[in-house]
Amino acid sequence: GTTLRAAAAEKGRYFGAAVGTYKFNDSTYMSVLNREFNSLVAENEMKWDATEPSRGSFNYGSGDRIVSHARANGMSVRGHNLLWHAQQPGWAQGLSGSDLRNAAINHVTQVATHFRGQIHSWDVVNEAFADGGSGGRRDSNLQRTGNDWIEAAFRAARAADPNAKLCYNDYNTDGINAKSTGIYNMVRDFKSRGVPIDCVGFQSHLGTSISGDYQANLQRFADLGVDVQITELDVTQGGNQANIYATVTRSCLAVSRCAGITVWGVRDCDSWRGGDNALLFDCSGNKKSAYTAVLDTLNGG
Ligand code: G3I
Repeated sequence: GTTLRAAAAEKGRYFGAAVGTYKFNDSTYMSVLNREFNSLVAENEMKWDATEPSRGSFNYGSGDRIVSHARANGMSVRGHNLLWHAQQPGWAQGLSGSDLRNAAINHVTQVATHFRGQIHSWDVVNEAFADGGSGGRRDSNLQRTGNDWIEAAFRAARAADPNAKLCYNDYNTDGINAKSTGIYNMVRDFKSRGVPIDCVGFQSHLGTSISGDYQANLQRFADLGVDVQITELDVTQGGNQANIYATVTRSCLAVSRCAGITVWGVRDCDSWRGGDNALLFDCSGNKKSAYTAVLDTLNGG
């Protein structure tokens, strides 16, 4: 393949990018996006604060724009995300207990129902595990509604959109460590009890090195019977950027249940990481050496 999307498709994978609709009138951005990617995810537009700005009142305009652009250009859509401790609307931040639980589950049901049939994979729950060595849950208003909030969210999402793959998504899970093992144990428990979960997202916001067991970590999750996806890849620019991108790509290709890779933006200047120049295209839309490393790896070179 001569583009990321074509080369990935030849390997049975998707290659996606996070997008913001406020850039859809930037012709450089759109030409790179449409040429190189066959999966989109909203960087912000499908989050709780964007989709339910006041309780029970839903706003799907920007999310729908991403879905319709994807459909018109032969792209699938990842849904990001249904529940997260961050980017909650102010009204939800002020709730607790059963009131918050009911509002959260209603949010899952309403949003997943609205987009039913149009989302390849939903990040049902995002970033619910703590950093550091505990391997436990992150404290949040949602966690304080009871430890079963995650499975309740997955069951509601399955009921609302039975054909979407349902993912748990997190960061700092780029090797076998306490946090990834905590998530691993949750997925194993969900599979054993029949809680619906289909995939785990590994955000992969990476610095100047990558854990030597990155691939082994993906594989241990796949061995539980879930797909794995690289969901928010970006890598600090430095001597190793191209190599790290290649390692992530090679790892996904080596794990048969790795469905695809999403980078968290198109050009360096579109990135939340600003000065890290963490993406595959420079600010003018030119291909970087990291791009060539990914493409060559997808092509088996
Ligand atoms: O929309 C408002 C705008 O009205 C206002 O004028 C402006 C002023 O600051 O803020 C705008 O909202 C910003 C929003 O991005 C849209 O641009 C928020 O301040 C800003 O906090 C928000 O940042 C996003 C961040 O998630 C929020 O936590 C980033 O764009 C987005 O890349 C980032 O993405 C997350 C994933 O969802 C989860 N994993 C980590 C990843 C990186 O942090």
